[in-house]
Amino acid sequence: MNAHPALTARQHPVVHVANLVRSFGRGPNILDGLDLAIRAGEFVALLGRSGSGKSTLLRTLAGLDEAPAGTVTVPAERAVVFQEPRLVPWKRVWANVALGLRTPDARERAVAALSEVGLSHRLEAWPLTLSGGEAQRAALARALVREPKLLLLDEPFAALDALTRLKTQGLVASLWRAHRPAVLLVTHDVDEALLLADRVLVLDQGRIGFDLHVNLERPRRHAQPAFASLRSRLLRELGVEDENPVEPVEELRTPVRNTAPAAPTHRLEDAVWAASADALARS
Ligand SMILES: Nc1ncnc2c1ncn2[C@@H]1O[C@H](COP(=O)(O)OP(=O)(O)OP(=O)(O)O)[C@@H](O)[C@H]1O
Ligand SMILES: [Mg+2]
Repeated sequence: MNAHPALTARQHPVVHVANLVRSFGRGPNILDGLDLAIRAGEFVALLGRSGSGKSTLLRTLAGLDEAPAGTVTVPAERAVVFQEPRLVPWKRVWANVALGLRTPDARERAVAALSEVGLSHRLEAWPLTLSGGEAQRAALARALVREPKLLLLDEPFAALDALTRLKTQGLVASLWRAHRPAVLLVTHDVDEALLLADRVLVLDQGRIGFDLHVNLERPRRHAQPAFASLRSRLLRELGVEDENPVEPVEELRTPVRNTAPAAPTHRLEDAVWAASADALARS
């Protein structure tokens, strides 16, 4: 794997993956000739059925899996947040955030990051005394303090209750606006992907099977007709029937599909078009 600090300029992709192949033992290829580029500052969500290889891809980008074949170029400055906060129980919250920082101002930086996630009052707390939402905010601070050019998030909200989940999604959106790392968010939640991301990808049969540019103004709301239309489209791509399908509207850019869709989607494609035109008109 190449780690290229120089590849962080805005005009270059910060992530460039070509022909990535990964299998385990004698099993089939989980990632099978996967190509992916993510631009500086771009927020990308990754969907796909359970076992399709999302975490495998994320671990590869994080440098936690050295076995794959292919080309993987990522920035040296990257950070990961998992579903579990993975805090060290015997270090105080601020020390968890400062873990691994080698600068004399490590504590100040940790304090500033914890302030950004609303945890100034829990600096000296032990991790086991934090609520689930607080612990995940501490994990976000630990990622943020490294000023990553690439932030990798593997279902970071999945273990949170519905309200905390919404708040934490909002926090990630505002941290992204303030710091502008490129983000790869693995999620099972189509709404979450559409609320947060510039692009939504679907991993299927070891490759990016579908690539949807989300041309909706922010902040996004479920009530937007264009939102509902894109939601229906993605659910269809995932092979899930939408319980409340909406009349399709259009999108500005034609989604890229690299593999066959689950079912013919002509009407939905028309629908996605109208949605984007609507979004553009309002921007
Ligand atoms: N270390 C490993 N050894 C053997 N098989 C593995 C290993 N890691 C992953 N796999 C297999 O690779 C496939 C992809 O796993 P991965 O965790 O990437 O899926 P995923 O898309 O993240 O799924 P989920 O949505 O359930 O988290 C699965 O079949 C899994 O069992
Ligand atoms: Mg996973």
